[in-house]
Amino acid sequence: MNAAVRLTARAVPRMGSLTRPAIARNAMRPIIAQRAAFSVTSRALKSEVIKETEVPVTVYSPDHKGVASGNQAGHFNIPVKNGAAEAAAAEEELEIVTPLEDKVYDQLPRTMQKMSVHGKVIIITGGARGLGNHMARACAEAGAKAIAIFDANQDLGDESAAELHQKTGLPVSFFKVDVRDGNAINAAVQNVVDLYGPPDVLVNSAGIADSNIKAETYDSAMFRRLIDINLTGSFLMSQSVGRAMMAAGKPGSIILVASMSGSIVNYPQEQSCYNASKAGVIQLGKSLGAEWAKHGIRVNCISPGYMDTALNKVPALDAQKKIWKSLTPQDRLGNVDDLNGLCVFLASDASGFMTGANVIIDGGYTLY
Ligand SMILES: NC(=O)c1ccc[n+]([C@@H]2O[C@H](COP(=O)([O-])OP(=O)(O)OC[C@H]3O[C@@H](n4cnc5c(N)ncnc54)[C@H](O)[C@@H]3O)[C@@H](O)[C@H]2O)c1
Repeated sequence: MNAAVRLTARAVPRMGSLTRPAIARNAMRPIIAQRAAFSVTSRALKSEVIKETEVPVTVYSPDHKGVASGNQAGHFNIPVKNGAAEAAAAEEELEIVTPLEDKVYDQLPRTMQKMSVHGKVIIITGGARGLGNHMARACAEAGAKAIAIFDANQDLGDESAAELHQKTGLPVSFFKVDVRDGNAINAAVQNVVDLYGPPDVLVNSAGIADSNIKAETYDSAMFRRLIDINLTGSFLMSQSVGRAMMAAGKPGSIILVASMSGSIVNYPQEQSCYNASKAGVIQLGKSLGAEWAKHGIRVNCISPGYMDTALNKVPALDAQKKIWKSLTPQDRLGNVDDLNGLCVFLASDASGFMTGANVIIDGGYTLY
């Protein structure tokens, strides 16, 4: 097993001895010291606390003349919400998708109308699960006219399209497309045009990650495969959707999901290929933004930090996740819906003067 994978939370205070930039190392010391102090105190307190599921309450009230009522008391129990119940409630809330109805849109102030995607045809790659799936739901809530999910995973893709349609009543379709397959992409984009009209928005979220692979032993076929999916896939999707927008003479918004890894080097895991692929996506976004401004097509990147999605739900990453959190000022990974607002904004006309931008959304990770 890779040495980096074997790092445990207990090993974190010794991380200073490992090779990493001095600034980030120094920045970590006070955090680790504080956290260690906090965890000792909270552990000691935890053992003394009995966690009630209900709090019994006894209330003594004076009578209507203000005289104490002796031993007459009112008794009742108040329920206690625990963390697990709250998490379950939050998860349940994520399952609800409420489409923006025309009559509600009509009543919105102008600024809020501009921040919607009302009437737009939206293609989302990687929309079968994870961040792409939640951005698809957000677009449905923000007024999309129709949503097309492109994904290589047939079962998940079918399931998520059916679910989104059932929850919203919107036209939703699933195309089993590998973003490396230019011909299949072109056929699918043409079919979207036939079904719903030319696309207004592309959200390219399909991507894969390899990590904990040292550059000196990186298999070249694996390297090429990742670049092909993350970078060439972003290009082929943008090219096909961009052409459809140009052919229709329609302005459009292309949103490429890059990563903070395109701007910084992650720690402690080695992942040179992923980082390079996402740096490529950011530069591709800038280049297309410059080239296609004359066609009214905007191209921007969303660069997430560490997000709590299936991509990272790998047992080998558990120890590293503690390190990632400790290096994130907000002390958490991003929620699966944490990109939604930014996605809708970049897709909407409210971001009309934005192109070639790379917006990092990382709980503050890149501040250190
Ligand atoms: N999760 C994170 O921490 C994180 C951080 C930064 C950036 N990102 C980026 O966000 C995007 C989405 O990540 P996620 O966490 O939702 O991942 P995920 O694995 O949950 O979802 C990715 C989706 O892309 C699809 N996909 C993969 N390869 C494909 C291909 N060749 N053609 C078509 N579809 C393909 C998968 O089937 C899946 O549905 C990725 O580009 C990822 O690099 C994720």
